[in-house]
Amino acid sequence: MTKGWTKTDWRAKPRVQMPDYPDQVALHAAEAQLAKYPPLVFAGEARTLKKQLALASEGKAFVMQGGDCAESFAEFSADNIRDTFRVMLQMAVVLTYGAKVPVIKIGRIAGQFAKPRSAGTEVIGGVELPSYRGDIINGFDFTAADRVPDPRRMLQAYTQAAASLNLLRAFSTGGFADIHRVHSWTLGFAEHDKAERYRELSNRIADALDFMTAAGVNADTAHTLSTVDFYTSHEALLLEYEEALCRIDSLTGQPVAGSGHMIWIGDRTRQPDGAHVEFARGVLNPIGLKCGPSTTAEDLKVLMAKLNPQNEAGRLTLIARFGAGKVGDHLPRLIKTVQAEGANVVWSCDAMHGNTIKAASGYKTRPFESVLREVREFFAIHKAEGTIPGGVHFEMTGKDVTECTGGLRAVSDEDLSSRYHTACDPRLNASQSLELAFLVAEELTSRREDNRRIAL
Ligand code: PEP
Ligand code: CO
Repeated sequence: MTKGWTKTDWRAKPRVQMPDYPDQVALHAAEAQLAKYPPLVFAGEARTLKKQLALASEGKAFVMQGGDCAESFAEFSADNIRDTFRVMLQMAVVLTYGAKVPVIKIGRIAGQFAKPRSAGTEVIGGVELPSYRGDIINGFDFTAADRVPDPRRMLQAYTQAAASLNLLRAFSTGGFADIHRVHSWTLGFAEHDKAERYRELSNRIADALDFMTAAGVNADTAHTLSTVDFYTSHEALLLEYEEALCRIDSLTGQPVAGSGHMIWIGDRTRQPDGAHVEFARGVLNPIGLKCGPSTTAEDLKVLMAKLNPQNEAGRLTLIARFGAGKVGDHLPRLIKTVQAEGANVVWSCDAMHGNTIKAASGYKTRPFESVLREVREFFAIHKAEGTIPGGVHFEMTGKDVTECTGGLRAVSDEDLSSRYHTACDPRLNASQSLELAFLVAEELTSRREDNRRIAL
C-alpha cells in the first residue's frame, strides 16, 4: 500500500490507550507465538469487502456493522454467536427489503476485545485500580491482580477469534443463512413485538422465492440465496496484536491485517501523527475511522490523505458518532471537507457512542429514542446535502438483555439491573435491534422513492 512502510513503524509514534506490559519477556513470547500462527482472514477477502464497500459509497449497497461493544472470554459460546448472527441476518433481510440493494454484513466480532477508556483508573469504595481495557489486555474483576495487563491474553483472544470465525463461516455457508429459512430465524423471537412485522415480511420473501422457483432459478442464483457473505471487524487498538498478525498478501505483495476483514480507528486514537493511524495506513484492508464531535476539518483532511492516498473507493469508511441533536452541528461541515477534497468515502452512522448516559441507578445506558433520533438526523442531513448515507453501525446482541432503555417493550431505568451483561458499553437487545432495522428500512425506502421521483 504505502512504499517504505513497515509493520513496526507505529512503535516510533506516540502511543495512547495501550497498556505498558510489566512483563516484557512474556510480551515478546506472546508476540513471537502469534506471529507464527495463521492469519484469521485472507487478503482476498479483505479486497472483496473493499469492492463491496466501494458500491456502498455510490449507494449501490448498504453497510450494516454490528455486534458487541467488547467481546468477552466469559460470554464466549456457540449460542451467543448464533444469536447475534441470527439477529444480524434478520436485520439484513429487513434492510435489503427497504433498500433494494445488497446489505454488507460486518460483525463487531472475532477480534473486538480491546477497549479505549476515558479514565486510566477506576475508583470503587476508595480503592483505585487501573481501568479494565478489554479481555485481550486485563481482567474485568475489580482486583489488583486482574487489572494487570497480561500479554498471554492475546493468545486466548486469538483462539476465541479463530473459533468464532470458524462457526460464523459454517453458519454463513452451511445452510443456516439460506434465505429459504427466513421463517425459522424468528425462532426464539416469538414474543418480540417486531416479530409479527418480521413474519409478514418473511411471508412476502417466501412468496417471491416460490415464484422464482416456479419460474426456474438457475443454479448460480440458488447458491447465492443459500449462503451469505459475513465479514468481521474490530477496533485495531492493541497494536502489538495487530502487528503480530500482519501478513504479506502473496498476490499483491501488500501488507494485510490478518486479524479481521475490516479494522477501524477509534475516536480517541485517531491522532494524525499517532501510532494507530501509522499502523492502519500501511495495510490494504478497508479502514473505518470514527468521527466524533471533536473531529476538525483539518484533521479529517490529513487523515483522509494518510489513510487513503490513492483515493481508492471502499478503502475508507467514516463512521460518524456525534449524538442525537448534534448531527446537524458536525456532519454538514465534515461532508463539506470530504467534498472539497474530492475524497471517496462511505458514510456510516454509529448511533451508539454519542448517546451514552448514566442512569439514576448508576448504570451506563443509552436511551433507544436517542439512537433512533441520531439515525434519522443522519439520513436527513445526507438528504439535505445530496450525499449518500452508506451504512449504520451498532452495538447489539441477540440476547434479551436490559442495557439500553426504551423500545417497544420499554426497558426502564429500574429494569437495567435485571439483565445487564455487557463487558463495556450498553447494547441494543434483539427486539430493539429489529425495531431499529425497520426504522432504517423506512429511511432507505423513502430515500429510494425520492430518487425515483427525481429521476422521473
Ligand atoms: C467503540 O466502537 O466501541 C468505541 C469505543 O467507539 P468510539 O471510538 O467511537 O468511542
Ligand atoms: Co462501545
